Amino acid sequence: MIKKGIILAGGMGTRMSPLTKAVNKQLLPVYDKPLIYYPLSILMLAKIRDILIIVNKGQLNQFKKLIPNGKNFGVKISYAEQSKPKGLPDAFIIGEKFIGNNNVALILGDNFFYGQNLTGKLKDCAKLSKGAKVLLHSVSKPELYGVAKINSKNKIVKIKEKPKKFFSNYAITGLYFFDNKVVEFSKQLKPSSRNEIEIIDLLNKYKKSNNLHADFIGRGGAWLDTGSIDDFYKTASFVAAIENRQGLKIACVEEIAYLNNWISRKQIQNAIKFYGKCDYSKYLKKIASK
Ligand code: TTP
Repeated sequence: MIKKGIILAGGMGTRMSPLTKAVNKQLLPVYDKPLIYYPLSILMLAKIRDILIIVNKGQLNQFKKLIPNGKNFGVKISYAEQSKPKGLPDAFIIGEKFIGNNNVALILGDNFFYGQNLTGKLKDCAKLSKGAKVLLHSVSKPELYGVAKINSKNKIVKIKEKPKKFFSNYAITGLYFFDNKVVEFSKQLKPSSRNEIEIIDLLNKYKKSNNLHADFIGRGGAWLDTGSIDDFYKTASFVAAIENRQGLKIACVEEIAYLNNWISRKQIQNAIKFYGKCDYSKYLKKIASK
């Protein structure tokens, strides 16, 4: 069972400048809550309770104002700083001590997942004991993403970053599950031409030893990468449409913790005090009265 998870929440957010000049992208609102609540909720749905958030050097205080610790969510939150964006696998070098001799999940701080059966799938992925597992999702513009080709047995036979020539429309999403070899493998990576160590190179190491597995977010599910301003607003509209229709919130981390029996009513009351008078608190009141 994977019990540790990392949220990579640094980055320059260049594509979203000037919005990201003073505030980190992961703290910007996606409709009614900060972006980081969404990847955090995904780890919590996978029943991962020991979580490391990696932030840009100098931005720790911004994050701690929002998430001082995981008490109100029933999880343990630790923080680490990244001096500059050195690439996604840098998460495992920074997180070496946190990972120890465990297996680990990584989610990118700007990735949004939603869908039926997602919780079951996440819990299944967290069972990984050996190798690595990625979640694939069909996209209309594979040339913008890391892409994987699979054979009839759902085995990954080829992966490539932003392929110019079409070979598959399965994008590799920003949620990964790794065994403990990930730390050693990450340390062996050489920076690419853009001077970053690359997740594709890391995954290739697993592929070479026949240890790279795939699962799918089916067509009933959504994966949105909130990297550009347009994508950001599309994700916010998606959340607004679903929440207003259903009267249920996506990524209400206190609700997830409460339903997992990780927190009591008392902690929901604490969360309400922390947030103050707002719609989010009103929703929490409803949860606590059930
Ligand atoms: P990117 O999309 O590669 O980078 P970015 O979000 O900073 O955006 P831009 O390209 O517009 O500058 O990163 C994906 C996610 O991973 C994002 O949430 C930032 C995070 N990240 C880090 O925290 N550290 C890193 O070294 C890298 C490469 C990304």
